[in-house]
Amino acid sequence: MLRPRQTANRVQIPRESVEKVLEATDIVDLIGGYMQLQRAGSQFRCNCPFHNEKTPSFYVTPSMQRYHCFGCGAGGDAISFVREYENLPFTDAVRRLASRANIPIIEQEETAGDRARRKSRGRLLDLHREAAEMMHDLLLNDAAAAHARDYLRERGFGKAMAARWWIGWMPENTRAFLDWAKSRGFTGRELVDGGIAYQIEENNPRAGLRVRFRDRLMFPIRNEIGDVIAFSGRQLREDPRSGKYINSPETAVFRKSSVLFALDRAKKPILHEKAALLCEGQIDVIACHERGIEHAIAPLGTAFTPQHARLIKRYTNQVLICYDADSAGLKAAERSYRELAAAGVAVRVVRMPDGDDPDTFLKTHGDAAFRNLLAEAREFFDFKLEAARSENLLASAADRARVTGECVSLLAAMGDPVARDQQINIVANHLQSSAAAIRQAIAREIKRPKRRFDPDAADDKPEQLPPTPLDHQIAVLCQLALRSAPAQHALAEQFETIHEARRWLAGVPLLETILDAAPDPASPAAVNAFINTLPEPDQRALAADPIAANEPPADGRAAAEHALAMLSSTVLQRRDAAIKAELKQPGIAAERMLELLQEAKEISALLRGIGQRHEFDDDLPASTWKPKTPEKFRPRNLFRAPPP
Ligand code: GTP
Ligand code: MN
Repeated sequence: MLRPRQTANRVQIPRESVEKVLEATDIVDLIGGYMQLQRAGSQFRCNCPFHNEKTPSFYVTPSMQRYHCFGCGAGGDAISFVREYENLPFTDAVRRLASRANIPIIEQEETAGDRARRKSRGRLLDLHREAAEMMHDLLLNDAAAAHARDYLRERGFGKAMAARWWIGWMPENTRAFLDWAKSRGFTGRELVDGGIAYQIEENNPRAGLRVRFRDRLMFPIRNEIGDVIAFSGRQLREDPRSGKYINSPETAVFRKSSVLFALDRAKKPILHEKAALLCEGQIDVIACHERGIEHAIAPLGTAFTPQHARLIKRYTNQVLICYDADSAGLKAAERSYRELAAAGVAVRVVRMPDGDDPDTFLKTHGDAAFRNLLAEAREFFDFKLEAARSENLLASAADRARVTGECVSLLAAMGDPVARDQQINIVANHLQSSAAAIRQAIAREIKRPKRRFDPDAADDKPEQLPPTPLDHQIAVLCQLALRSAPAQHALAEQFETIHEARRWLAGVPLLETILDAAPDPASPAAVNAFINTLPEPDQRALAADPIAANEPPADGRAAAEHALAMLSSTVLQRRDAAIKAELKQPGIAAERMLELLQEAKEISALLRGIGQRHEFDDDLPASTWKPKTPEKFRPRNLFRAPPP
């Protein structure tokens, strides 16, 4: 969910600018760029990008410029969507939207720390972009790069490919590169922070810098939105003293475990193909894209992580794994399967002929043959168990038990029980065992305590402040005050009634804040800009309410009056209950008892009066603003205990 915002960030971008950005952004267009939205009446919906689900419960409401998920309670405006989806702090999300809408924004009161962080991040991105350009230029034009150009040509890649992927060359003699960096104003510190160079002696900056890559073909690695954030350098001459590929280390802009090569280009094709093609290396991915197979992506030579799986899950529920046919490939496929299955992604495996990878296969057989391979991809367990059989690993009872154990562990990792059931049948078939026995083994496996701890994943989900507790009736009033001008006015007139409810209902201060600020309900941008000024727990409370997805009521004043009556009635009931509780206390003074009885009498008269003016049956009057959300999304218990 939302990353907690540092207080120092809060006033960095003035509310007017936030409002301008929101005015210039259409949330349907924005979210539609990430996911395929289906129209649903006056709203749009899709599978929620923030949790796993099979049927869409994520709704986007154009009239309010907000989204809400009935499944996980995520909700908010364009800014919170970008924050949550791209995992950005508030100000970065606003900047991102501002540049998307091509409007300037004013920034103020940035702390020194903020400024330094933003600048250094920006500097690292500048460094990567400029270095990529510079090395690309060297590859194409430097006399000393002839062997690099020959190498590319030998592998069947031309100048156009090099240009499309910004492939570059880092010379053996890196002096020229260091001089270039200096001339462009990049400091040694920045080269080290960007991972392009390192200090020769760790604790002695005087000993000088060394560039990490030498005489290598340089592949820029981009994040999801296309910024160059790292490099992967391939050896041009075989040298066993160092790896075939060297990647940038982790830096402030590069988190290996959550980057997928070419995802920036593959996003749209993945939506179109309704599947992602997961390759082992960037050369394979490039070979695929160059031949029109543009849903190909790859992790960066590292193990496939839960973050990778979640990243893919935002775009598709279907992955084709296309790894080498050897046993290392199978092992890698298993590891990827485990993470993808846990994220609820269906996995099939492409059967590559022995010794081929997508790059070599495409070169020898062409893209039509490759497409055929993709079409014939096997269900993961069919693939695994067919491979086991062909290696004669299902013959002895001991071998079968071992393979069964592996399958049980993989099945137990699956996030979707329905999909798991289908897979259990496949496995039972291959192993000639009963599905029931496998199911039992899975149940045992699931009960076992989990060993795995993933520090990256933990880091992905920063500590969150819980939402401000809101009684349902206060939540309704808050939403009315934000959605309907007549409702807002009606409520403002009743501020005393509302203020008195403080003792009895949770969330009244938030409602009062809204009524004080009185953002114009006619402008979704103004309302959303206002909400963005609220503390995080308040924002979360407003977003989590299912009524947040409703259209404003037709008659705002009537709805507000009705909701206020409900509020008064609840307050009276709670006062009444408190009185009855006090009356039951032993040793209560006679005087106090009389007082309480008198109060109880007044309360019941008041309650009768409200009851005559408003009906509170299930059959609510037309002015009532009730959640028109599908039954299965209705909240269960709306009432919380009264505050002490
Ligand atoms: P080519 O040999 O150039 O065709 O690349 P490839 O993609 O076929 O290589 P391979 O299948 O051996 O490796 C797949 C991926 O693993 C590569 O794209 C790299 O990201 C990564 N990789 C391979 N070798 C190394 C290495 O020595 N070090 C590191 N860090 N990563 C490597
Ligand atoms: Mn290869």
